[in-house]
Order: sequence, then structure tokens, then C-alpha cells
Amino acid sequence: MAEIVLGLWTTHGPQLSTTPEEWMLRVKADRARRHWYKGQTYAFEALVEMRRGENLAERASLEGRTLSHAACQAAIRRTAEIWKAVDPDVCVIFGNDQRELMLPALQPAFTVYHGETFWNGPLPEERAATLPPGIVEAEWANRTPERTEYPALPELAAGLIERGIEDGWDFTASNQWPDHPSPHHHVGTPHAFAYILRRVMEDRAVPVLPIITNTFFPPNQPRPWRCFALGELVGRVLSEWDRDARVAVIGSGGMSHFVIDEGFDHALIDAIGNRDADWLRGIDPALMKDGTSELLNWVSASGCLFGTGLSGELIDYVPCYRTEAGSGTAQGFIAWT
Ligand SMILES: [Fe+2]
Repeated sequence: MAEIVLGLWTTHGPQLSTTPEEWMLRVKADRARRHWYKGQTYAFEALVEMRRGENLAERASLEGRTLSHAACQAAIRRTAEIWKAVDPDVCVIFGNDQRELMLPALQPAFTVYHGETFWNGPLPEERAATLPPGIVEAEWANRTPERTEYPALPELAAGLIERGIEDGWDFTASNQWPDHPSPHHHVGTPHAFAYILRRVMEDRAVPVLPIITNTFFPPNQPRPWRCFALGELVGRVLSEWDRDARVAVIGSGGMSHFVIDEGFDHALIDAIGNRDADWLRGIDPALMKDGTSELLNWVSASGCLFGTGLSGELIDYVPCYRTEAGSGTAQGFIAWT
């Protein structure tokens, strides 16, 4: 019988794979847009004013950024070490799509990938040219230098789709990555999954079941309670999976961004540590906006992992500030074995 032997919650964003100097390439965009923070939107300057007492300028200084960067790299190394030590046979990843595969013309809430394989590869130059500064520099962490075919888990995916239909889940099914003509900014595997293959598995890929949630884009972002239930469903399907496989389950995304909210992140980390399903189910959807919404993947992973006997450590929590408004990405890493 299949057994879950590893649970990981990890962030995956560009600040993990760019230098503290390159982080500043995002600041122009940070200044130009409105940001979600604690359930409301604010202009950049309003956030600077609001957060004046928090000493964020120092934490966003080159010295502060360099310390945060080093802590993240150590946490990524630790995560990869744990992966290697546990050595799972297969992996279920809860991740999100960020207009890589799904465009507004057709934007499914939950998609199960049921192909035999999926692919990743280099991003052609004319497509890379459409990526914003501070993002394109991180592409090395999301792409293979050559076209690479990865094994998927069609049998487990079929079981999930079938069991889902019985239980009131009518998943969108995909058996190849949707492809869009150039100059669309993406080909191959979305970054929520590619980051795991590259930086957690370090390219020694095991068969993966990608479960893709639209966390980011209105109007059909699933609610936290629904994501927790998705994880529970996947847990049931795994417990019934008639295959002798040691399984890893990963929630990929978050934490709070593009404005960091340490209080919210710590509360979520505590809820995971305490297996507090009610807290996770009850998260106010107004807090799950922009990049923070990717934490829905953490909620799904929790729904799957709370029912196991696994437990473990917070490897690290690193709020990576790049401005005095609190913009940046908070990075988090939890492993249960
Ligand atoms: Fe992301």
C-alpha cells in the first residue's frame, strides 16, 4: 500500500533564486501598483507611512537583504537534504498556475494532470524578453537547460479524478501542458512545480502528480475550506492507492507577498504545527490575495498531511523585504517526516 513518508511546505518565488541586488529590480513595479495588505489595498506611499515604526528600511538595506538571502539558501539546502534522506518514490505537488498554462479565456479552479509524462525546457529568447525585471533572472531555477521529459502519475491521477466525481469534485483534467503562441511568456512546466523539481529534488525527479489550483486570479479562486477538503480527498485516494509507494506531499507557494505580513504568516505556521484544521479552513479569503493566495497550496497540503502520523520542524521563516513599504516575499520552509 502507498504510504506518505514526507510532507513539505515551501515557497518557490523568484527571490529564492536571485541575488539581493537583483531583488531591487522589482522595486519599480512595487512603487507603481496598489498592494493587498491585511484584507485591503493601498498605494505604495500609504504603506510606507503605515509601516514607518517597523524599521523596514534597515531590513531592506543591502546588509539586511544579504542576511535574508543567506538564510533562504541555507533553508533550501536543508529542504533538499531532507528530500534526499527520505528518498520518496513518488510526489504529489499542490501548486498554482500564474497565467503560464491557463489564460483568462479558460481558467479552471482545480486541474488534475493525468498525462503519462510532462515536459520542461528552456524559454525561447523572444518569450523571455516579455518577462519583467527581477523575474526573468530567476528562470534558471524553473527551467532545464534542455528539453526534459518527466514521469507523471497517470494511474494515481485517474484514481483522484474518478474518486472526485463520486465525492462531488468535478476536476478539470489535463494530459499535456496547454501551449500558447509566442510571445506568451511561458512554455513547459509552471514554476510552482518546476522549482520543486529543480531545487528540492535537484533534478533527480521521481514521478509527480501535479494538482493545479487557480489561487491568484478572480473570479474563481477557491476558498480555504475547499482547498483543505481537496487535501483530505487526496489523502483518502492515497490511502486507498494499491501500490507499494513511498509518497511525498508538497504544498508549493506563498508566503505573504507582495507586501509581507509576518503576523499572518506566523499564525499560519502555528496552525500547521498545531494541526489546527479549523483555523486553516476559516482563513478570511480577503487575506488570500495576490501572491499570498499561493498559501492555498499550503492549506491543501495540510488537508492531506494532518491525517498522517508525520510531524516535524519549521526549517526557517525569512521575511525578505526589499522596501520600507514592506514589499518583498516572506519565505517559509516546513518539513514533516
Ligand atoms: Fe508563484
